[in-house]
Amino acid sequence: MNQSVIHVVILAAGQGTRMKSQIPKVLHPIAGRPMVEHVLDAAAAVAPTTVTVVVGHSGAVVRERLAGRPNLSFAVQEPQLGTAHALQQVEPLLAGKSGTVILLSGDVPLLTGQTLEKLLHAHASVCAAATVVTALVERPYGYGRIVRVDGQIARIVEERDASPVERQIREINSGIYAFDLAPLFDALRGIASQNSQGEFYLTDLVGIYRRRKLPVETLVVERPEEIRGINSRTELAEVSALVKQKKNEELMAAGVTIVDPATTYIDPRVDIGADTVIHPGVVIEGSSRIGRACEIQAHVRLADVVVGDRVTINSFCVIVESEIATGASVGPFVHIRPATSVGENVKIGNFVELKKTSLGARSKVNHLSYLGDATVGTDVNVGAGTITCNYDGEKKSQTIIEDGAFIGSDSQLIAPVRIGKGAYIGAGSSITEDVPAGALGIGRARQSNVEGWAERKKAMPQKG
Ligand code: UD1
Ligand code: CA
Repeated sequence: MNQSVIHVVILAAGQGTRMKSQIPKVLHPIAGRPMVEHVLDAAAAVAPTTVTVVVGHSGAVVRERLAGRPNLSFAVQEPQLGTAHALQQVEPLLAGKSGTVILLSGDVPLLTGQTLEKLLHAHASVCAAATVVTALVERPYGYGRIVRVDGQIARIVEERDASPVERQIREINSGIYAFDLAPLFDALRGIASQNSQGEFYLTDLVGIYRRRKLPVETLVVERPEEIRGINSRTELAEVSALVKQKKNEELMAAGVTIVDPATTYIDPRVDIGADTVIHPGVVIEGSSRIGRACEIQAHVRLADVVVGDRVTINSFCVIVESEIATGASVGPFVHIRPATSVGENVKIGNFVELKKTSLGARSKVNHLSYLGDATVGTDVNVGAGTITCNYDGEKKSQTIIEDGAFIGSDSQLIAPVRIGKGAYIGAGSSITEDVPAGALGIGRARQSNVEGWAERKKAMPQKG
């Protein structure tokens, strides 16, 4: 097996003209994360000593986005004169080093770590100077073609420069390679830009190596989807669909029911327990974790949530960065905003918004309420239309509702305010002061009835 030091280089400087976008191509998301991050994750599998991303077009934006990742170097390619020119920008960083360069493309995000391990193995086992990852595909259009002579790779020809006969070749270049570092940068200097795009093509290296009698090998991948490149919005959608399909299949194999995989979008890092049922139109993002035997009804969006077991989320709920404990029921039409925690067996009914709020076990907020910056105990009943007035135009204040309290419908709790244990709030109250445990708090105008008023109104002369 390969013992040599590994340097990963990811080309990500191109403009991505065919995307027609202000956003650099490699930052367009696949399953919720920039495509280049998928490439970086795959690269981690080969335990590289150095990882360098070549940036250029909107390079600052790319760097900023990747700033949080440790042990990452950047090389700047300005202007962008082609893939060979991009790799040349890494020469100062790798000068004097030895080992193997794994070259990846920021726009080939489905590549797996296993394939990179195989690439290294194939490259090392025959002591190749270069190994090209290729695939046999039905629709080779747009890719560089592998031209073989006597079965050996002789050169790579780009679509635009290929002859009609070469265009018939179904073996394509993935843009992923392993190179022995020693001859690499010297050979790159031999590349010219006499082609249809006037660019320095890295792919010309194969012909140069052949002439210099340096051994070039290929690794043909078993699943060509893995090396799909993204050059357009259509390809972005197609690759996203492949990621989504793979995730749905994994979940179904692990015991999750997905009623309609075609309309179900679950990010790769999401975890879902067995016997949970996912209905059509559900979107689950980020690193959400859903327990066992839950029911996620149609058209729900969950982003970075933690959901216990046997939870029901009814249709048309949006829940972000929050926790829903075992046995709870939420929705329909509920918006749960970040930092909310819904306790065990809690019931949140229709048209409720929660923000930075925690609810203890068995509490109920069944209809038309807003609770923000609130701490609610166990067994609390929050009546229809209750609002925590948490914002006075300048600052946010807390509402505390202790265990077993009962909040009558259509009340406003004007924060900061505390409702004591087992206290009652009369319906329609505006509560501005704390209510002691066990008390009834009532804050509304006393009702007065005007006897005979309707009869007198009828007897009044009509105006106009
Ligand atoms: C390239 C290959 C092609 C292969 C295909 C696989 C060349 C000449 N062609 O074509 O054989 O089939 O990938 O997906 O290499 N980049 C830079 N600087 C540049 C130009 C490109 O960093 O000056 C980066 C891009 O950001 C991208 C990658 O290199 O991440 C590939 O560039 P792209 O223009 O997409 O090449 P393709 O035409 O797809
Ligand atoms: Ca490409």
